[in-house]
Parts: sequence; C-alpha cells; structure tokens
Amino acid sequence: MTDRDTLGRKEIAAWLELAADALQAARDALTELDAAIGDADHGFNMDRGFQKVRSLLPTLSQQDIGSMLKSVGMALIGSVGGAAGPLYGTGFLRAAAVTSGQQELSPEAVGSMLKAMLAGIVERGRATPGAKTMVDAMTPAVEAYDRAQTTGAGLCPALQAAVDAAEEGVRATIPMQATKGRASYLGERSIGHQDPGATSCALLLKALHSAVCRGRNA
Ligand SMILES: Nc1ncnc2c1ncn2[C@@H]1O[C@H](COP(=O)(O)OP(=O)(O)O)[C@@H](O)[C@H]1O
Ligand SMILES: [Mg+2]
Repeated sequence: MTDRDTLGRKEIAAWLELAADALQAARDALTELDAAIGDADHGFNMDRGFQKVRSLLPTLSQQDIGSMLKSVGMALIGSVGGAAGPLYGTGFLRAAAVTSGQQELSPEAVGSMLKAMLAGIVERGRATPGAKTMVDAMTPAVEAYDRAQTTGAGLCPALQAAVDAAEEGVRATIPMQATKGRASYLGERSIGHQDPGATSCALLLKALHSAVCRGRNA
C-alpha cells in the first residue's frame, strides 16, 4: 500500500502526456484499423487532438482537476475532426463536471470520473454496448473498476482491472457488426475487424494506469 491512494493534478498531467505519447506511437496502427472499416483518419485525428492537449499542458498543470479536464474536452472538440473528437470531448467535459474544483481524487472519485466520461460518450453518440464502438471498451472498463472498488481494491489494482477489461472489450469488437458510426455503413462487412475507437479508448485507460501506478507498489 501507498500512504496516499489518490490521483492528483500531477498525475492527471502525466496521464495526458502519456496519452499523447501512446496515441502518437499508435497513429499508423489506428489509422490502419480505421482504413478497414472507416475512412482511415482515426489515428491522425487522435494524434492531432492529443498533441494539442500536450501543447496546453504547461498552463493546465496550474489548474484544478476539473478545469484541466474541461480544457482537454474543449481542445478535443475544437481540434479533432470526425466522430471521435466530439465523443471523447464530451466525455472529458462530463468528467470535468464531476471533478470541478478538486485537487485530488479518491479511488471512488476516480470511479465517478470514469463513469461520467462513459455517460458523456453515450449521451453524445447514443451507442449501446455491442454496436462496435469505443463504448465496447469503456463500458466493461467502468464495470471492472467498480467491481474492484466494491471488493476493496486500491486505486492501482482497480485501474489495472479497468485496463484488462478494456483490452478484452477491444478484442470482443472483432466479431461484432457495427451499428453506429461510419463502420455501420459496411453492414456485415464490418465483421472481423477491430474497432479503432475501442482501441484508442483502451490506450487512454492504459496511459491513466501508467501515470498513476508506475513507481507505486500497489
Ligand atoms: N455513435 C458513436 N458512439 C460511440 N462511438 C462512436 C460512434 N460513432 C463512431 N464511434 C467511434 O469513433 C471511431 C471512429 O472515429 P474517427 O475515425 O475519428 O471518426 P469518423 O468515423 O468520423 O472518421 C469508431 O471506431 C468508433 O469507436
Ligand atoms: Mg474515421
């Protein structure tokens, strides 16, 4: 155990930085996934959005967590073309609303943040689980985090459970037929391909886990 099982502003900044690194590294792979069932821009979109977020980091780190997440949401809505920008952007804005004025988040508050992010994505995109979207990674992640919390797990084990569930959710998109977003235009031809948005969602959660848990034992 650590003496301080919370997520602070420094870790939010580290999350955003690691997310920008991960999305940059995955840019071509995400674009390739989107080439198969979309319009080959998801990697480019996400990389552009998070490089914009990276450029804001020096000013963001002076702010409370809610303000940081709000700036991220606005940056993503403003700079990411396609469906993913407004979806992730709305997710970050909802996450900002439940962390307003906070300097540090308890494990429960992190759970509320993740839940709010998912609610924002669903509110904006109206996708239900099984539609082959980012919701298919985020929903099991939020559920796994909650389950870990209710069995008394600390922040890092709960985040690890969320990452594992998201990655499982990504794999589960492969046999799905898309019923939302651009991939739905393909009908049955969308079957057999991994969803790019679910993939980027798992990368975002993995970056959160790394930012909070590297260097911690628990
Ligand atoms: N209605 C929706 N709800 C949730 N996620 C969606 C929705 N529509 C699309 N997505 C996600 O967005 C991803 C595509 O993002 P992107 O390529 O950036 O946008 P676009 O489809 O406009 O080119 C998909 O892989 C899917 O995960
Ligand atoms: Mg696309």
